[in-house]
Amino acid sequence: MASLTVRQLDEALKQQLRLRAARNGRSMEDEIRSILREAAGETEAPPQAGPASRAETSATAVAPRLLLIVGGGIAAYKSLDLIRRLKELGYAVRCILTQAATQFVTPLAAGALVGGPVYTDLFNPDHEFDVGHIRLAREADLVVVAPATADLMAKMAQGHANDLATAVLLATTAKILLAPAMNPAMWANKATQRNLAQLKADGVTLVGPNAGEMAERGERGLGRMAEPLEIAAAVERLFKAENAVLPIKGKRILITAGPTHEPIDPVRYIANRSSGKQGYAIAAAAAEAGADVVLVSGPVNLPRPQNVDVVAVESARDMLAAVEKALPADVAIFAAAVADWRVANAGAQKIKKRPGAATPQLALAENPDILSTIAHRSDGRPPLVIGFAAETENVVANAKAKLARKGCDWILANDVSPSTGIMGGDSNTIHLVTAAGVDDWPPQSKEEAAAMLISRIAATLTGDRH
Ligand code: CTP
Repeated sequence: MASLTVRQLDEALKQQLRLRAARNGRSMEDEIRSILREAAGETEAPPQAGPASRAETSATAVAPRLLLIVGGGIAAYKSLDLIRRLKELGYAVRCILTQAATQFVTPLAAGALVGGPVYTDLFNPDHEFDVGHIRLAREADLVVVAPATADLMAKMAQGHANDLATAVLLATTAKILLAPAMNPAMWANKATQRNLAQLKADGVTLVGPNAGEMAERGERGLGRMAEPLEIAAAVERLFKAENAVLPIKGKRILITAGPTHEPIDPVRYIANRSSGKQGYAIAAAAAEAGADVVLVSGPVNLPRPQNVDVVAVESARDMLAAVEKALPADVAIFAAAVADWRVANAGAQKIKKRPGAATPQLALAENPDILSTIAHRSDGRPPLVIGFAAETENVVANAKAKLARKGCDWILANDVSPSTGIMGGDSNTIHLVTAAGVDDWPPQSKEEAAAMLISRIAATLTGDRH
């Protein structure tokens, strides 16, 4: 049978094909396949249905588009199996091989498993006219890099774009999942760890590496690529997480965070040890899930989360005023460690130390309880009001009492005893107290706790849980 390539077609025909393919959102090769199928009297192949979890939640049952970037490492051979696993799960897979990856697996083998072209060059005239790196980047719901070599991670962390894989990674707005694979010494190297920290801060998700035997004889340690089934499970988790937070999209979420500063005089204040990290992580997770987020923040030393409207305040009374101004909201989350008292007789001028004079006496006045004020509003109360309970003893019992006293719907209780390192630290162990009971969440990072809270809120907004 004669073989025909797009390159052999005359220019006019290529142009028509290009237009038709673009209209249908297909590659030129796929368009030709579809024309041949039509000519042979076959009906269009229906889009592959995704796994049940996605099919249930997705409005259109189109297979999610996954772009697999294979880096140049010995673990690349496992990526062929990964393609198979992902296709079994119903994903539409496209594949890029880096130049180094072609030393380990051939485009032919990867293409046979993908069932379509495999991309290797940034400047391939056929592919530039056909798919191109911007389309490859745009037409992916998730980008998986497996194996992610030390070199690819370094380039990503620096934003390099000197080949097809890195250009696509820089151009995509889709979530990125990395499955690192390298020698344990390379993984442990400070430069790799620095790049890893940068990539995590940029929102990249990781699966692995695992510990075990290396390809090099006698070498063991951390650096083996996660197994294809583990990577496929991580892909599933990411898609589920994305779908799980869909009901948050467009909802207005009001969050308080950080400590408050209560002035003693113009230069001194009373404060507490809150870093604001948990509230900021919640704001970031809510914004990432597509919510319209207002963050009323006491004085903290944290970067502003992206796509969040931050209102900076100092005292509890300022915070209450800012919160009331920010209403209405669908959900209000009170994560701030608001000072319970302020100095009643705060000085308008700096209090001076005068020889022989008595030590100044500070009289305290109670601050407004912001959470309680909002939760008890008869008019304009957000439908879901969530508070925190910072406790140092009887955590759950105190939180239950707080839930009733403050009139909120949920309390996230945590033990802030100095020994836990929660106040100001990076991790948190939360007990979610609601009218229905208590859920003990595992110890986790404040970002993970934030993601869990956002999923829980999403489930509630859909009516799945209360
Ligand atoms: N809170 C508030 N305004 C206050 C005090 C607390 O909005 N003036 C909110 C916090 O943001 C948190 C919840 O109330 O969501 C509980 O805060 P916490 O400090 O644990 O409790 P307190 O009300 O201060 O009670 P106590 O100090 O007696 O534990």
